[in-house]
Amino acid sequence: MTEELKGQLAVVTGAARGIGAAISKQLASMGATVLLAARDKARLQQVQQEIQTTGGTAHIAQLDLLDESSITTLAKTVETQHRRCDILVNNAGIGLLGKPLVELSPSDWDTVMGTNLRGPYLMIRALAPLMIAAQSGHIVNISSLAGHNPLPNGAAYSASKWGLNGLTYSIAEELRPHNIRVSVVAPGSVNTGFSTSDKNADKKIQPSDVARVVAMLVTQAPQSFVSEVHLRPTQKP
Ligand SMILES: NC(=O)c1ccc[n+]([C@@H]2O[C@H](COP(=O)([O-])OP(=O)(O)OC[C@H]3O[C@@H](n4cnc5c(N)ncnc54)[C@H](OP(=O)(O)O)[C@@H]3O)[C@@H](O)[C@H]2O)c1
Repeated sequence: MTEELKGQLAVVTGAARGIGAAISKQLASMGATVLLAARDKARLQQVQQEIQTTGGTAHIAQLDLLDESSITTLAKTVETQHRRCDILVNNAGIGLLGKPLVELSPSDWDTVMGTNLRGPYLMIRALAPLMIAAQSGHIVNISSLAGHNPLPNGAAYSASKWGLNGLTYSIAEELRPHNIRVSVVAPGSVNTGFSTSDKNADKKIQPSDVARVVAMLVTQAPQSFVSEVHLRPTQKP
């Protein structure tokens, strides 16, 4: 445990497993109080327990990014119980990979866009006002290298991440005058349950690697910020 983020509140979406769980543990180990958000309460409680066992502080908030009222409820909890939001990590995401676009149903398209792009927009809309009031804060959006490259049979996912990059760069400019730093992380294949692939799991990026990048971003000296990080496996998996 360190105290670099002591006194700060970090909200992490998709904290129930995978990359979000790793980011949450990392930020808690640096002294932040972490609000773990996702739909699966049992898994959130498991992550909370793991953080508490190592001396960290975490709370849980059930969140469905496809339900705007759930985001409003979370924002109210943050405002009334914590009265601050120093770090927002928009990590939750889904793929629905494996189908050519012409076979993807409009409802699957909406689910991908709703989770990966509208979700971060609504989270920022709900929580950035607290940061603006404090004239400080850091927003980190977890995108993907698929947000820079074509992804056959994953067009909706790729489009959502290209969109997330554009959103990130645009709001970074809007929020800069308020001393709020907005960054995006674009990892290649990470070793989580996100997608089934025959890639070598040991060679993949590990969730803790992404967590270390987030730790670096939120501890950057105040006079500068990192716009984007591309994170690649050293050896192709
Ligand atoms: N794994 C990779 O290879 C990879 C590579 C590049 C980028 N990424 C990105 O990294 C992020 C995390 O991926 P991961 O690999 O950790 O995936 P994961 O293991 O499948 O975890 C996804 C998380 O998102 C949450 N989530 C999904 N839909 C949600 C919703 N409607 N509302 C709230 N939470 C929701 C899930 O929790 P619940 O189901 O409990 O809600 C879960 O905690 C995603 O944005 C993904 O696009 C992943």
